[in-house]
Amino acid sequence: MPNHNHSLQVNWQSVSAEMLPQADQALLAAAAKALDKAYAPYSNFHVGAAVLLDNGEILSGANFENAAYPMCLCAERSTLATVISTYPEAKILQMAIRVRNPQKPVAQPAAPCGACRQVMVEAEHRQSGDIKILLQGESGPVYVLASAKVLLPFYFDGSFLG
Ligand code: THU
Repeated sequence: MPNHNHSLQVNWQSVSAEMLPQADQALLAAAAKALDKAYAPYSNFHVGAAVLLDNGEILSGANFENAAYPMCLCAERSTLATVISTYPEAKILQMAIRVRNPQKPVAQPAAPCGACRQVMVEAEHRQSGDIKILLQGESGPVYVLASAKVLLPFYFDGSFLG
């Protein structure tokens, strides 16, 4: 069997916030507002997420920690659960994610954890459509990604199942 080399290209844009369309800036602002609702007494790492739906609604969420550390809920997953249980018919167009760490200011966008990437890909599979992702730190540029799949090459989703 011959060996083959393959490579994957990951495409994203790095944009200064003020250059973004108004709708993107509004969604980032909603994610920033959600940061204040984070319950993160253990890590002190605040994460806020906001999604824009095709019905025009914006929903948001934040991380929700637990003294039993593995029980901590990430902002991305708590937000997606809210969306799917509030507007199950709606399509998610965009998701903005922002972070704040009072102990060590975050000077670049922080990417979602692996578990959240998997759940974000599931949300895309469920709606048969990509979700544009916006990531922003406390300072620095905004990263714009066309899909959660950019964050998770070799993703596993329901298309492998019967
Ligand atoms: N966290 C998120 O909310 N989203 C991520 O993608 C990364 C991590 C939260 C979980 C925990 O409450 C804190 O950040 C530190 O890991």
